[in-house]
Amino acid sequence: MKITIGIINISDRASAGIYEDLPGKAIVATLGDYLISPWEKSYAVIPDEQDLIEKTLIRMADEEGCCLIVTCGGTGPSPRDVTPEATTAVCQKMMPGFGELMRQESLKYVPTAILSRQTAGIRGNSLIINLPGKPKAIRECLDAVFPAVPYCIDLIEGPFLECNPEVIKVFRPKGK
Ligand code: MTE
Repeated sequence: MKITIGIINISDRASAGIYEDLPGKAIVATLGDYLISPWEKSYAVIPDEQDLIEKTLIRMADEEGCCLIVTCGGTGPSPRDVTPEATTAVCQKMMPGFGELMRQESLKYVPTAILSRQTAGIRGNSLIINLPGKPKAIRECLDAVFPAVPYCIDLIEGPFLECNPEVIKVFRPKGK
């Protein structure tokens, strides 16, 4: 089964070329470190427009068959931050444990971690995970939740993700 992973940097300024797309690149680099299985990426840098975010998530999930979609940015309290709303709108099931764990972990680094409304959810056979837009936050958050990601993808009937145990210790319950 082919592995395609969607990466979306949601930022007015990155999409306008004012900021370099550092968090998107950090997601690609981190997943490249974790995964032994060959994978392909679908990549987008888009502004903080809820309609466009929803359309991009739906395209990656339904048409491109991404088993995992990782977004960065747009999770805070500013008027233009609408990534969690778009994620919630396209998912059939929310997975609140992801946001809870990422905020808990991020609090070890910054007291402003509680300002992120980052969440996760399931659309069909795709797991969608929101990350904050700070480049440094990418690895901090993915290191916390990724141990549970391959098993979650097993449960939604996606491809088998094999990871490098020297980089990330993935957990799959025995006998499952
Ligand atoms: N989480 C981590 N790990 N590191 C960070 O620097 N920044 C916080 C928070 N979570 C941060 C973090 C800040 S300052 C904000 S405003 C929120 O994420 C939302 O960021 P976003 O709007 O770029 O998604």
